[in-house]
Parts: sequence; C-alpha cells; structure tokens
Amino acid sequence: MPAAGDGVGESAARSDRRAPSVERAIIAHRGLPSAAPENTMASFRAAVDAGARWIEADVDLLGDGTAVILHDTLLDRTTDASGSMYDLRREDLERIDAGSWYDERFAGERIPTLDEVVAFLNTSRVNANIELKANEQGAARTVALIDTVVEALARLDAEREIIVSSFSQPLLMTLHQRHPELAIGVLYETATLGEDWRSVLELCGASFVHPQDAGLTADRVRAFIAAGYGVNVWTINDEKRAGRLFDWGCTGVFTDVAGELSL
Ligand code: G3P
Ligand code: CA
Repeated sequence: MPAAGDGVGESAARSDRRAPSVERAIIAHRGLPSAAPENTMASFRAAVDAGARWIEADVDLLGDGTAVILHDTLLDRTTDASGSMYDLRREDLERIDAGSWYDERFAGERIPTLDEVVAFLNTSRVNANIELKANEQGAARTVALIDTVVEALARLDAEREIIVSSFSQPLLMTLHQRHPELAIGVLYETATLGEDWRSVLELCGASFVHPQDAGLTADRVRAFIAAGYGVNVWTINDEKRAGRLFDWGCTGVFTDVAGELSL
C-alpha cells in the first residue's frame, strides 16, 4: 500500500515511514460497546480482555484544549451531563459520569483523556485507530486538534501501530501536510463514496480507506486494493460478513463485538 508520506508534492525523504501492516484485523469499535459504555476505559479494557489487538477511539478537544475520547459533540447521549463538550475544561471531567447511562455497574466511569488511552496502549500493547472528529470550531481549532493528537501519539512506544482517520477530508489533508509520517485512513459513508475516491485518497496521503459496509461490493474492494490501499470496513457485527470481507482482501473490520468474531 502507499507509504504514508507519498502524497502530492512531497520529497522522497518523507516517504520512508512504513504504513502499519494490517491483516485481518478485528478493530474494537469504541472499545467493546456490547459489554461496557462506549469510548470509556472500561470499554477499552473489556475489548482487550476479549482478545482485541486493535481498538478504535474518537477524539476531539474540550474548550481548554484537552484531547478527550468522545463520539458526540453533545454530552447528552453518553453522559449524565448535557450541552457541548466545547464548553468543558479538563477539571469538569471529574464530575461527569460517562457510565451510568449504560448500566449502574459503570457509575463513576469518566470521559477518558487521550493521554490516558496512550498510556493504556503502551501498557496493554495494543494498536489503535484514532478517529479525529470533524471539529466544529473553525480552522485554528482543527489545527490545534491535529497537533495535540500528534503530540500525544509521540508518547507511544515504537512498536505500537497507529492509523489516524477522519470523515473530514480537509482535516486529513492538513494532517498529512503537517505530519506526513502518520498513516491515514479516509472514512466514508456509503452515500459520500464517489468515483473520485482515488483523487481524495491521494490528496489526503492515505494508506487506508475506511468505507461503510452498506452496499460495499467485491469489485469496489478489489479496486481499492489494486490501487494499493488497505481497506478497513465499519461496522461489522456478523462473523459471516466479516469472513467474506476478509476473503475479498479487506485488511480489517471495525466491530462492536470484538471477541465474538473468531476469524
Ligand atoms: O471508524 C469507523 C467508525 O467509527 C466510523 O463511524 O460514527 O462510529 O465514528 P462512527
Ligand atoms: Ca469512530
């Protein structure tokens, strides 16, 4: 697959970093949301305990610039608080419960910081897909998100494998320009996966494409692979479908039920 750094207008010296070698990877989507509240340390621990070697986590910045793991900009669905994460500071995390909504057994679970997850990846020796959320606060904040995440990822042990992904193509292009050494995956919903995908992947300096499963065909996967990209598909909770995708040559599947897919 294209090495990270092979994008347009780059010097050869930048293309020496190998993209992660990903083969039939079961990527635990937001941890193990079938057993614990999504995107919490309990969820990531449960995924690793279930045998996952890759986890996926969503990242954006609080108002004070702290990088945290949260899927929605609004707090309402997955915490006991309401309103926007952009109105929070790091110290607010101590009073927000991110577990009770799921089950009282998880009362007191917190929204994790990215730093906590980086430490967890090092100690548990698992790899990660870090999804950068499409930040809603403008270009400067988007660049701050990129640089904050890259700074945190620099604390990972050398053997950890990382793919950074996003639905936001401008964000990924900016990430690639600023940090061409990072392996990038371009996320697509089926409705937005157009025939210009090759141009988009090249402009983003991607090594991977992360398409939604709905409507994905063997021909499309073959075209991605022929163009040199790894293909990680979301979200697959059915073992038979996962097996078929791997037979087509997909490199990974995101799943809510890591541990139940014995492939
Ligand atoms: O990375 C795959 C998947 O996480 C993308 O969708 O909405 O779950 O972040 P979403
Ligand atoms: Ca995600």
